[in-house]
Amino acid sequence: MALTLDIDRIRSHFPHRPIHHFPVIDSTMTAAAACEIGAVVLADEQTAGQGRHGHSWHSERDAGIYCSLVLEPAPVLTLALGLATLEAIVQVTGLSCDLRWPNDVMIGEKKVAGILVHLADAKGIAGIGINVNHARFPEPLAREATSLRIETGREISLTEILIAFLHAVDTFTQEDQPTILRLFSHASSYAAGRRVTVFQSDGLVEGVTAGLDPSGFLIVRKDDGTDTLIVAGGVRAARS
Ligand code: BTN
Repeated sequence: MALTLDIDRIRSHFPHRPIHHFPVIDSTMTAAAACEIGAVVLADEQTAGQGRHGHSWHSERDAGIYCSLVLEPAPVLTLALGLATLEAIVQVTGLSCDLRWPNDVMIGEKKVAGILVHLADAKGIAGIGINVNHARFPEPLAREATSLRIETGREISLTEILIAFLHAVDTFTQEDQPTILRLFSHASSYAAGRRVTVFQSDGLVEGVTAGLDPSGFLIVRKDDGTDTLIVAGGVRAARS
């Protein structure tokens, strides 16, 4: 099985999308910022992969999917992309995954994929990182991250994952907002009834999740009975 991305095969599945491929790049987000809507930017390796909240994204050569997509901005785009990523992983590997609001894809308590969305110049620039064939992660990341290879015990085709993901993006980005909220709430154990800690710029919030509001923000019910609306990430399962 070829383990590197088969760009010709990916292009043949998505003839309507401009697909740009870099063996090495700082970040696919940088290249995507200059692309038109519909474009896909892929890299085999990133030297300055960006994560959410100013973190870096571990981007070992040929081990993961490092992809940026240029999309029409849409409400709940970030939740739709989480669903698309989960769908691709489940389809190709059969693993059970969870979604930690808003869009971390989890296997058990470890993160296997992450999504970052920037809005700029009337474009939604979405970055998707999926840990596929990493055999291990450096500390301290190893405590929080996993890969499809670690979870299945076998190597997984990057090309199959990417093709399944891009098809799922086409499907989920056509759904309306109430449908995305319903699908997300169904797929995510974090959406309701989960005790969480949320790291916010003005301090910590702890409580039990109580669903999504109509805009897709997470409602957390604190122990004093009041609700807080979480509009950005930083959600973690609370230690019991
Ligand atoms: C997160 O922190 O969960 C989001 C991670 C997003 C990583 C991807 S890899 C492809 C794209 N390019 C980047 O530099 N970051 C995103």
